[in-house]
Amino acid sequence: MIRTILRMGDPRLLQVSGPVTEFNTRFLDELLADMFETMRAADGAGLAAPQIGIHLRVVIFGFDRNERYPEAPAIPPTVLINPTLEPLTDELEDGWEGCLSVPGLRGVVPRVARLRYSGFDAKGNAYSRDVDGFHARVVQHECDHLDGILYPMRVKDFSKFGYTDVLFPGDMRGE
Ligand code: NI
Repeated sequence: MIRTILRMGDPRLLQVSGPVTEFNTRFLDELLADMFETMRAADGAGLAAPQIGIHLRVVIFGFDRNERYPEAPAIPPTVLINPTLEPLTDELEDGWEGCLSVPGLRGVVPRVARLRYSGFDAKGNAYSRDVDGFHARVVQHECDHLDGILYPMRVKDFSKFGYTDVLFPGDMRGE
């Protein structure tokens, strides 16, 4: 079922989410199925549970090709529950971000360039992955949602924050 995505200004997006304590429940399975359906319907690169009003530490991301980020390399469909992020470098990288909760806008955000993320998959199996580039960016963006942080709060250079169609006229990257 496609769920409604909360938009910036809704105080629920600023709440800190709590950990998942039970796996292989009907509730969690349905939540994940709905999150994938909602993300794909909105052509998102990722989605965090609090964006649909569920305050659990659950994020999903991944795509083959994404209209919103046409230059981005594919990321495998990923479920990440109760995540921890460990930077593997001090290096920060600037990159454009958008958010389904902040439709129509884009901004440049500095993020750690390389990191290891660890957590649990949909069945409760622990795993970790070392990633960089856009993959590392997406994980940081989605996990920020679990702590009530939206990417505009991380924008440093407000000359690189604005409406997508003004920033990228004639570009088809959509919202
Ligand atoms: Ni977002």
